[in-house]
Amino acid sequence: MRLTQLLAAAAALKVASTGFATYKEIGADRDNSGEIAYSPLTRSDTLFLYIQIIAGSDHTKIINDFKTLARNYGEQGIKAIPRVRYGSSSGEIVSEPEDADLILEDVRTWVKVFQEVEDTIVIPVIQAGFLGMWGEWHSGYFCPGKGEWETTENQDVKRAVVEALLEAGPKIAMRYPQDHEILGFEGNRQVTIHNDCIFNNGPGGDDGGTFPEEDIETWSDYLKKVASNNTYGGEPCNQAEGSGYDWSDFDNVCGANGLEAYIHEFQVSYLNPENPPELKELFNDPSRSECVDRFEEALNLYH
Ligand SMILES: *[C@@H]1O[C@H](CO)[C@@H](O)[C@H](O)[C@H]1NC(C)=O
Repeated sequence: MRLTQLLAAAAALKVASTGFATYKEIGADRDNSGEIAYSPLTRSDTLFLYIQIIAGSDHTKIINDFKTLARNYGEQGIKAIPRVRYGSSSGEIVSEPEDADLILEDVRTWVKVFQEVEDTIVIPVIQAGFLGMWGEWHSGYFCPGKGEWETTENQDVKRAVVEALLEAGPKIAMRYPQDHEILGFEGNRQVTIHNDCIFNNGPGGDDGGTFPEEDIETWSDYLKKVASNNTYGGEPCNQAEGSGYDWSDFDNVCGANGLEAYIHEFQVSYLNPENPPELKELFNDPSRSECVDRFEEALNLYH
């Protein structure tokens, strides 16, 4: 192949569909040797990768572990969708430190790391992370509210995190449509959305606080506008307050109003099939493989 053709093929690869993304996490406080060694994935060529760092500490070891993982998986043609979040030195998940400069310094450190692995592993999208519990932009010092229910000071910190992350190159996915809108990213296709609580309440529900209960339609329409077929994805869940969907009813999950319909409605490009545990069971149940095939084919339609 000529170089121009090679580059075109590589560019096509970067926007190629993603499908099922396999959950993995590495942490600053742990021995990650098992996680960073390559092992084959099931029905997946993408990692759903959490990187847990400790505020104010030296990140050299976790950066090296991430780079080793990127090499080991990248050379097998595996992509990664990373999210950086904070943990304590004893390994618990914590929200961000109460120091915006420190957070932004960590963001810039990881932007550089993501730039350095550009030729090692394909990163279709980076989940914004850094703020909130699990890096999910809730229950943190700078993210007690969403969208307009947030002080301008906190909005400025949120915007600074996203703008710094954009320097890495890949698209950035924000957690909440209201934050996406208030920060002015409505017309920016480089800023998409991820959803950690798909189907918490079944079709048309609030997806565990993703869409404000009093106005589900406005915000699911907004999400579709900015994120459908724009590397939108995340994980299904039943762990949020008000969860009302029965994931153990496999006929329903596989049925006409189940997950496949959601994938088409929102043009979802990737999903972690290991959450909630009931979905993991379905995913691994050979007698349900026809249903899992349909989910996979649906995901593969969208970018
Ligand atoms: C999704 O986006 C890709 C380009 O990224 C485009 O080729 C494709 O037609 C779109 N699919 C739909 C269903 O809009």
